[in-house]
Order: sequence, then C-alpha cells, then structure tokens
Amino acid sequence: MNERMIRINRYLAGSGLGSRRKCEKYVLEGKVRVNGKEISDLAFKVNPGKDDVTVCGERVFYNEKSTVLVMNKPAGIVCSVSDELGRRTVIDLTREKGYNQRLFPVGRLDMDTTGILLITNDGKLTNRMIHPRYHVKKVYRVRVQGNISGSTVSTLESGVDIGGYITSPCSVRIIESGRGYTELEIAISEGKKRQIKRMFLSCGHPVIKLHRKSIGGLSFKDLDTGEVRPLSRDEERLLRKRIGLD
Ligand code: URA
Repeated sequence: MNERMIRINRYLAGSGLGSRRKCEKYVLEGKVRVNGKEISDLAFKVNPGKDDVTVCGERVFYNEKSTVLVMNKPAGIVCSVSDELGRRTVIDLTREKGYNQRLFPVGRLDMDTTGILLITNDGKLTNRMIHPRYHVKKVYRVRVQGNISGSTVSTLESGVDIGGYITSPCSVRIIESGRGYTELEIAISEGKKRQIKRMFLSCGHPVIKLHRKSIGGLSFKDLDTGEVRPLSRDEERLLRKRIGLD
C-alpha cells in the first residue's frame, strides 16, 4: 500500500487535470471532495493509494508515470474522451487497443480529419504542445476545391482572417494541381478550432480532405490508420526537448 502523502493540487495535476495552479482553482471553487468530504484547504494532503478523490463528482486517479501514445487517427471518430451522442471516440479506440489508463487527446482533430494524434495522461506536456508559445509545428496534407494560385499561397502564408483572428505566418506548398482541385502541404504552429479549413475557406477553397502528417517534427511513418503505440524513447526525448520539458 502506498503510504506517501501528497498535496491535493499535485494529486490533481498528476491526474492530468492541468497545471497545479489550475487544480488549485478547482479546490478553491469547492469542486473537490476527498472520501466524500469537500475540501478547501490547499495544503490538504491525500494518499494516492487509498483516498477517493473526485472533481465535480468524477473520480480522478493519480498517475505518476507519464504515458504518451501516438495514434494514426481514422476518419469518422470523435476526438475527445467521451461523446454525448455516444459516437466512438479516439479514447474508445485507444482502450480497444489495450491502453486502459485515464488518457486524453492532445488537442483536436475534426471527426473527418485523419492522421497523427498524441494521446496522454500528462497535463503539462499537453499544455505545452498546444500553447502557441512553444511553436510546435504541425504539418497537414490538404486537398481543396479549385486551383490555388501563387498569390493565394502568399496570402495564406502571411496570415488570413478566419473570423476575427488573423493567423500567424505559416508555410504552404502546392504538391499537385489537378482538374478542379489542389493538393497542398501546410505547416502551422498554432491550433485554432478548424484552423486549416477556415484558412482555405477564407480564400474561397473549401477543404475536401485533411490529414495531419507530423507533429513536432515527428512523422510516425510506421503507423497504419487506426493503429496506436507508445512513443519510442527517442521520439519522446525529442518531443520533450522541443517543448522545454527535458
Ligand atoms: N484544422 C482543421 O481545420 N481541422 C483539423 O482537424 C485540424 C486542423
């Protein structure tokens, strides 16, 4: 039995709920109960092996060891932990592959978007991966309607208005221009909701197909669609180094 006592905010952060500061807020807002009793003292200590800790009524489990998985997401599944409409989620798929811990996706891919998605229990890693300050590069292969001109490429690269927000500079490369469509590669370092689709739509080119090829410089070419595996030690080391967590 684990007799080591740790402070409540550390326990909550270690459960993947976010930073210790954010977890302190849960305590101060009266959302945290230990063995059924609401606690408000930030110095309160819990025993990870024994105590029953809930946040907003949901039991949370302390996970000391960070797990980082990578999935090649298929189209048609929802990128969240659970879905109110009962649709299959990326976490359902992760569990089907035998990873049963409490895990969550790092950022979002739309239901019809395919490709590289990280899945973890590590709140700190997640925050850094999705915060624009850490400039984590994400490369997408995209097929859009219509033939994109050189000047549209330049416009996209310098930043476009996607509805009250001007996107940061990015790089765009045309791979193929066919009959009524263009295939491109675009690399961005931010992650606004449906950003790529909104960027191309703002230039009059609706997205037909979207696939994330790589994240943080890692492209996981061995992963078939629907496959999930842990990052290798080298991959994890590289990723952590990139976001200042080494
Ligand atoms: N941009 C989008 O529009 N959709 C995604 O799924 C990812 C990036």
